[in-house]
Formats: sequence, structure tokens, C-alpha cells
Amino acid sequence: MGKTVIVVGCQWGDEGKGKVVDLLADKADVVARFQGGANAGHTILAEGKKFILHLIPSGIIHDGKVCYIGNGVVLDPFALIEEIEALKMQSISVVGRLFISAATNLVMPYHKLIDCTDEKRRGGDGIGTTLRGIGPAYRDKVDRCGIRMSDLLEPERLRRRLEIHKKVKCDYFSGSKDDRADIEKIFDDLMTLAPVLTPMITDVSLALEKHRKEGRNILLEGAQGAMLDIDLGTYPYTTSSNTTVGGALTGLGIGPKAIDEVVGVVKAYTTRVGSGPFPTELVDDTGLQLREKGGEYGTTTGRPRRTGWLDLVALRHACRINEVAKLAITKLDVLDRLDSIKVAVAYDLKGTIMKEMPLDPDALWHLKPVYRDFVGWKSSTEGITDFDKLPLQAKEYLKFISHELNAALGLVSTGASRDETIQF
Ligand code: GDP
Ligand code: IMO
Ligand code: MG
Repeated sequence: MGKTVIVVGCQWGDEGKGKVVDLLADKADVVARFQGGANAGHTILAEGKKFILHLIPSGIIHDGKVCYIGNGVVLDPFALIEEIEALKMQSISVVGRLFISAATNLVMPYHKLIDCTDEKRRGGDGIGTTLRGIGPAYRDKVDRCGIRMSDLLEPERLRRRLEIHKKVKCDYFSGSKDDRADIEKIFDDLMTLAPVLTPMITDVSLALEKHRKEGRNILLEGAQGAMLDIDLGTYPYTTSSNTTVGGALTGLGIGPKAIDEVVGVVKAYTTRVGSGPFPTELVDDTGLQLREKGGEYGTTTGRPRRTGWLDLVALRHACRINEVAKLAITKLDVLDRLDSIKVAVAYDLKGTIMKEMPLDPDALWHLKPVYRDFVGWKSSTEGITDFDKLPLQAKEYLKFISHELNAALGLVSTGASRDETIQF
């Protein structure tokens, strides 16, 4: 019997999902992405090389694994071609190994233009998006004026749908001299890409069912993190997709029983890029230290990531909504030099102590974390592969997290490379 495992981020993204998926891909036959788009940036260090993936599932690095992009993804075809080319430069071919749902909506150049325009219009109240056109593309999908992969097979329909789009969204396009709003150019460019992309079109739902029936191991790769989920995250400072397990069901066309195990990726501290409340944020030297030691700069945009202590209130929420059974705790080594380490165990909202997320995420701006202090281990955990070899305080820290989240330790990452990992 094959097994289907889903890997989801439990914080605000960049937890190290790429590394975890790459590791687990070793035992998988198939890897699929179900939501998000080129806003994601998944880094993998393997075989002495660094790979950065935005759209293509991290399984592509492993020879012979088959990768799928589901209908829940918003796919920028131009970014995909760039990614395919970059992989080719690193001697990785996607030919015959990468398939895309016919129902996947495409991120068009005008979506990126709209993303930039909207962020400018919001002024100081911006979301701090990645400007990859994600929100506008999902908006068009829900508005039923999106362009889908299958449209690439029907040029006349594609042209008509682009024209309908222009009519419906004319306020963004009228008088614009920006190339990104030029429908004729977009049509021509898409027709140039079509011969490369259309052979990848498939029915992902059917393909996954077939793999399951054949007893294959399947890995589902989440992007972003639970706190960026459009419904269950810190709205409106979220992304525009369901980053949690529910997103995998609709984003791939699978049922709830198709998932055997949920692995939640948790960074040993917290980071966030873009705007929005962040209760445990550190705006002091410790925060800077975490950023520098952790290399906390956005993979997609290069922006410095905001840093802070681990937040168990947010994590309890993330683990519940995903039904996380196993934890993959990453970047433990980044805490090595700290004298003491704090973990938020509750929130204090004007004197009321809360162990769960407030009903309204806006309250996150106004509350104070209640911390539990841990003594730092002050020694290197870098590259340790055996749990028993960890300093006592580090073991206590990990056991405490696992106990509080009621989830088993599945793996602990002690460095960016594939082999710098403790597996249980
Ligand atoms: P993702 O978006 O969740 O895949 O995470 P990113 O790739 O955006 O960010 C995680 C960063 O941390 C990457 O640069 C990884 O190479 C790196 N990383 C992953 N695990 C570890 C670890 O255990 N220790 C250290 N020091 N770096 C890690
Ligand atoms: P991975 O998969 C961290 C954040 C953006 C912004 C908000 C909305 O690498 O973990 P969007 O462009 O999606 O409309 O931006 O979401 N964001 C991420 N933060 N990691 C990511 O992906 C992110 N994808 C989007 O910074 O705050
Ligand atoms: Mg990332």
C-alpha cells in the first residue's frame, strides 16, 4: 500500500518546506503542489547545489519522480518557463515528469500590474504582497474571468477570453501603455509558449487516483503557511489561497481519505514577510541575530524577514486546522548562540489570558504574548543527526513543543543541507 503524505507550513511561510519535501521525496514516487503560485520560494541544498523553486514541486530535484501542479495553483507561465530553464542549467529535465491540471488558472502579466497598482493604491495600508499577481489571479478565478491552462489548447477561445477580461476589468487597462496590459502581445506570447506547455496538460485528479491504486507513495507540497491561509490566517494580511489541508483536496481533486499523514513544518522561531500583526516579533538585537544567523531574507523578493520567538498559540491553531500528526522542526541551529530562548504559551489581551487564537485576528495587534523562558544551550547543534547527541536544553525545547502541540517529532533540521537532519 502506498502512502500519501502532505507537508504544510504552520507559521507565516518560509518554515523550510522545500528542505522537508526534498527529504521526504526520497521515499515518494509522486510530488504535487496544490495552491499558491510563484509567490512561494522553496530552497533546497542537495548534492552541493542550491535549488530555488517557486512553482515546480520540490520533488523534481530527485531523478525519476513525477511532479504535478494542481488546479488550486495559479500558474505564471512565463515564470514557469524561466524555472524550467534554470533547472536545465542545473542538469535537471522536467520532460515527461511535470504535469499540470487543465483547470489551473494562469497568472497573466496584467495580474502583476494590478498587484502593483493595488499595493500602491493601498498606500501605508498595503499587504506587502510579493507582487507576483497572486491576489488578482485568484480574484479573476472566483470572478469567473480567469484564463486556464486548457485555454492554451483553444487559441480562438483564449483570444475571446482575454478580450472579455479586458472588457470586465477595463478600469485597470484604459489608456495604459504598460506592456503588461497589452492583450495582443500577451496572446502572441502565450502562443509562443503553448507548444512547450500544452504537452504537460493532464487530469491531475485522475492521475493521482491511478498512482494511489498502483500503490505509489505520494507527497503533497504546501506553499506559504497556515497563518497566511485566506480563511483561517491573519486576514487581511494573508495570501489568497487555502494553504491548509483543505486546499489540497480542492486544489488537486482528491477526497479526505486520500491523505494518510499530515506533516507540519515549524521553524524553531518565527518569521514573517510583508505587513500584518506578529505578536512575538523581536525588533531588537536578538531579532537581528536571528535574521543574520538564519539568513532570513525572502527567497522570492529578497526582503528582510521579520523575526520573533516561537508562538505556540498560533501553532496550536495551525496544528488543529491541519490535524498535524507529525512535526518537522527546522532551523534549530539558528538558536545555538542565544543565552535564553522564549516561547509564547498564551496571549494576554487586556488582562484576559488566552491559549487559543482570538476570534478576530485584528486583536493580534493589541495583545501581549505570555512567555515561558528556556535556558539557551550555547553550543553548536549544526549538522547533528542523532537526537541523543543534542544538548539537554535543546532536547527539552523540542519535547516541550511536541507536547504542547500534541504532535510527534517527525524530524528536526539542524542545517540547510539534506543530510543535516535528525529523523525519528
Ligand atoms: P520554504 O518556503 O518553507 O521552503 O522555506 P525557504 O526555503 O523560503 O526558507 C528556509 C531557508 O532556511 C532556506 O534558505 C533553507 O535552505 C534554510 N534552512 C532550512 N532548514 C534549515 C536548518 O535547519 N538550518 C538552517 N540554518 N537553515 C535551514
Ligand atoms: P513560501 O511558500 C512567506 C506573504 C507575502 C505577503 C502575503 C501576501 O516560500 O513559504 P501574496 O504575494 O501571496 O499576495 O502576498 O503573503 N507570502 C509569503 N511569505 N513565504 C511565502 O511562501 C509567501 N508567499 C506569500 O509576503 O505578506
Ligand atoms: Mg519560502
